[in-house]
Amino acid sequence: MSETTRTHTVALPTDQELVLKVIPMPADCNASGDIFGGWVMAQVDLAGAVLPARRVRGRMVTVAVNEFIFKQAVKVGDILSFFSRIVRVGRTSVTVKVEVFAERFQLQGQYIKVTEANLTYVAVDDQGKPRLVPEE
Ligand SMILES: CC(C)(COP(=O)(O)OP(=O)(O)OC[C@H]1O[C@@H](n2cnc3c(N)ncnc32)[C@H](O)[C@@H]1OP(=O)(O)O)[C@@H](O)C(=O)NCCC(=O)NCCS
Repeated sequence: MSETTRTHTVALPTDQELVLKVIPMPADCNASGDIFGGWVMAQVDLAGAVLPARRVRGRMVTVAVNEFIFKQAVKVGDILSFFSRIVRVGRTSVTVKVEVFAERFQLQGQYIKVTEANLTYVAVDDQGKPRLVPEE
């Protein structure tokens, strides 16, 4: 059975915001031709920052990445779509869920969930100390 028939296509989320689209390149691969997990994690950190940045309005840092799950390998030429939603706003932190869907190179319009993670960002002041998340 080919890989494309083994994987499950899914509908894209309607309750989350599309925060990033990116296509991995050969320079992002390991020796086996799959995309490095670390490259995907960096993109998830960038994508995850989009909604907290709107709330925090200023300097912030990533404090935690939790439950990072790689469900399927990412390939060169996949179109990756990153969806996100805020799951918690604390005193000084904002936590988001990020889900990543791939359209395989020759199967566009069909989406496979490849990765998901929860990330927490902390609003910080000029000294790098936590500050309150502003009211909406
Ligand atoms: C983020 C940082 C400013 C927090 O400082 P701190 O003195 O530990 O602050 P606190 O303990 O008051 O925690 C601040 C917030 O982070 C949250 N937090 C701390 N550790 C956490 C963890 N492991 N998971 C989830 N949230 C966490 C706290 O719950 C708190 O949120 P709240 O105010 O909304 O409840 C500090 O740890 C830091 O600068 N870390 C480095 C960040 C960085 O460089 N990131 C990039 C890595 S390359």
